[in-house]
Amino acid sequence: MTISSQELESSLEEQEVILWTERVVKRFGGIVALDGVSVKLPRKKIVLLIGPNGSGKTTLVNVITGFLVPEEGRVYYMGRDITGFKPHIITRMGILRTFQIPKPFLNLTVLENLLVAQPPGSYESPYRALLSKRIWLSREKKNVEKAFEILKLLGLEGLWDQRATSLSGAGLKLLEVGRALMSDAKLIIMDEPAAGVNPAKAHEIFSTLQKLRDEKNLTFLVIEHRIDIAAPYADYAYAMHLGRIISEGVPQKVLNDRAVIESYIGA
Ligand SMILES: Nc1ncnc2c1ncn2[C@@H]1O[C@H](COP(=O)(O)OP(=O)(O)O)[C@@H](O)[C@H]1O
Ligand SMILES: [Mg+2]
Repeated sequence: MTISSQELESSLEEQEVILWTERVVKRFGGIVALDGVSVKLPRKKIVLLIGPNGSGKTTLVNVITGFLVPEEGRVYYMGRDITGFKPHIITRMGILRTFQIPKPFLNLTVLENLLVAQPPGSYESPYRALLSKRIWLSREKKNVEKAFEILKLLGLEGLWDQRATSLSGAGLKLLEVGRALMSDAKLIIMDEPAAGVNPAKAHEIFSTLQKLRDEKNLTFLVIEHRIDIAAPYADYAYAMHLGRIISEGVPQKVLNDRAVIESYIGA
């Protein structure tokens, strides 16, 4: 079977876009939180999502991660329609959202925090008891090696035996990313990684994301209010207002877009 150059081109294009949404609509009663939102996340890029409070950023992330099902529109991931998939299935497919480390986990060490973020396939199961000790130990050893590889990438390996409570705000953010990496994330979604972190440390977070993008082929979708800090590190930006994408392109262009500036002033 031959394939036309046009077909080949469009299939290549699909491979380059890891996730996209098509005219997604989400309503809450009378509020239209998402009003026909189409975005594309190119593979191995850092994409910034900005917009004033209430513009629909979190709702969009909730739709992408399966926590909300849209009334209209579709979500595609690696060429597959994942609209309506359950959150745990979407997680297992490699879309991970970072969350604040739960309180009890703050008393665990940095390494333990990665080990309890279990990679797919290693969940506690009744069969686990049936595994021979040897198999179990070799699996644990692999997890520890994987955790150390991740800690190295994050620049946290020297702190592996410290309690998570002893980390700085930036260190904790990076540990959240590390937990997502333990679950074999391909696309990582972060809500305000720079919030509550001093500017120098915020730069450290974003340069680490760039390193992960380049060395681990990761894609990031980052909601961030500290646009000045985040923009130089991002490859692409979307701006939302009242449930719509009002601007997209290289971050500096989006930041200086009149409609974007006005959306913040109006908010
Ligand atoms: N669970 C909900 N129930 C009702 N309204 C909601 C809910 N979640 C979000 N909204 C509304 O949807 C709109 C978009 O909210 P959100 O996605 O949280 O915006 P952002 O994250 O950009 O601040 C807002 O008007 C908000 O009040
Ligand atoms: Mg929000």
